[in-house]
Amino acid sequence: MQTLGILGAGRVGKAIAALARDAGLTVAMAGSGDPVDEVVAADAVVLAIPLGKYRSLPSERLAGRVVVDAMNYWWELDGARPDLDDPTTSTSQTVAAFLPGARVVKAFNHLSGYALEELARPAGEPDRIAVALAGDDAGAVELVEGLVDALGYDPVVAGELAEGMRFEPGTELFGADADRAEARAMLERFWDTQRGRVVARARGRL
Ligand SMILES: NC(=O)c1ccc[n+]([C@@H]2O[C@H](COP(=O)([O-])OP(=O)(O)OC[C@H]3O[C@@H](n4cnc5c(N)ncnc54)[C@H](OP(=O)(O)O)[C@@H]3O)[C@@H](O)[C@H]2O)c1
Repeated sequence: MQTLGILGAGRVGKAIAALARDAGLTVAMAGSGDPVDEVVAADAVVLAIPLGKYRSLPSERLAGRVVVDAMNYWWELDGARPDLDDPTTSTSQTVAAFLPGARVVKAFNHLSGYALEELARPAGEPDRIAVALAGDDAGAVELVEGLVDALGYDPVVAGELAEGMRFEPGTELFGADADRAEARAMLERFWDTQRGRVVARARGRL
């Protein structure tokens, strides 16, 4: 990967842009109202806008692109949105449904702003933390694994996009500065948590 596009020029967009530049990538970033031509032409495009505004994304321009969904449903910001709080569906599946043809991978969403700004480390450092990712397109997941590693975190693949539920707000991994082994353990424990049981019941697994 040589170029990274970022939609959303707030705290997360700027932090990821800085990490990507440090990693030697060429970065194109757009805030609301900015032209997106360079952003959508990049090798991968990070979504870093408030999730409640996902319908403002340039869906046709993202068809066929590798899209990294770093967004979360945050009711204080997004307002009450039952469509984004449905236990049967990871919010990244909702975003993917709005972006036909996009190769959506969920990643970076469970890190705090602080972790994105301060906790990136070179590979092999003992205090390097993990970033979970999930996606349905194996090639896109592999590419984003490389991006996570290049930006300073250990990638941990949770599974298909539906598994993104296991590192959304309200889960143990969300906001935790976990290393790879801890992150894997937290993902596995998800189904034994109250949120996990709610999701399992809603998905007909209980
Ligand atoms: N903050 C965190 O710690 C954190 C950590 C992980 C993930 N996240 C998630 O990452 C996303 C961004 O969070 P943030 O804290 O960076 O928010 P933020 O600081 O409020 O920034 C969001 C940015 O997105 C822009 N924007 C809105 N619609 C857009 C569009 N259609 N195209 C391009 N830009 C658009 C906004 O511009 P305007 O102001 O001009 O509308 C704003 O600059 C959220 O979904 C959040 O849940 C946040």
